[in-house]
Amino acid sequence: MSTAKKQYKRITVKSLIEMKQQGEKISMLTAYDYSMAKIVDDAGVDAILVGDSASNTMAGHETTLPITLDQMIYHASSVIRAVQRALVVVDLPFGSYQSDPKEALRSAIRIMKESGAHAVKLEGGIEIKDSVKRILNAGIPVMGHLGLTPQSIYKFGTYTVRAREEKEAEKLIEDALMLEKLGCFAVVLEKIPAELTQKVAKALRIPTIGIGAGAAADGQVLVIHDLLGMTHEFNPRFLRRYMNLYEEMNVAIGQYVSDVKNKDFPNDSEQY
Ligand code: KIV
Repeated sequence: MSTAKKQYKRITVKSLIEMKQQGEKISMLTAYDYSMAKIVDDAGVDAILVGDSASNTMAGHETTLPITLDQMIYHASSVIRAVQRALVVVDLPFGSYQSDPKEALRSAIRIMKESGAHAVKLEGGIEIKDSVKRILNAGIPVMGHLGLTPQSIYKFGTYTVRAREEKEAEKLIEDALMLEKLGCFAVVLEKIPAELTQKVAKALRIPTIGIGAGAAADGQVLVIHDLLGMTHEFNPRFLRRYMNLYEEMNVAIGQYVSDVKNKDFPNDSEQY
């Protein structure tokens, strides 16, 4: 059991900021449905991200772009029904906040009202400043997301490490400072050099949550399907697999199939 699990009954955005102040690392994982969220919450994870990666993991799309606001609300409500302790953050999906700040606020309000989530996450820096401001002004906590921003995949063309060049690194630092100044409670840093993460984490009072961003981030986030080894074909360097669930499930399901075929299931004690 982590120290945070003992200390906090319910994690809030303030708890995460306190963890940074106290030098305690923040654990975050994705979840998209009730059963998984229950396991993740019971295991003591501090924050759960209902990521738009649901577009890949749950729906089988190649990118995060197709998932809709209604679908995100469906995933988020299922997660919220399971969670008793973790802070639940929900991604605003592509197309629900980029066109204008009023639409961004309407989308964020729908997520908060219809799912019961605790905060929203938006990808981008200066380009989405007015949307972030508007959402924050309505009292909705916002988490930023810089570095590799999968909703802009067609602009960059690849999922390789971002901000290696000085100009892009400088912009990322400026964006992070701007998000903090606006009032965001944390920033996700995805796939950037560890040295840059160190600079950003040092410059910010709010926590940085890294994915492929090195050890200096104030917390770490992973996609639960990757951590459990359900997505066995995805093997980036930053990923630590804690299980090989694809293999284990494959064996278990194969055994079930053969038991049914061999008339071994159900046996006498498994029927009425
Ligand atoms: O959608 C998602 O899962 C994310 C994480 C990769 C940070 O945004």
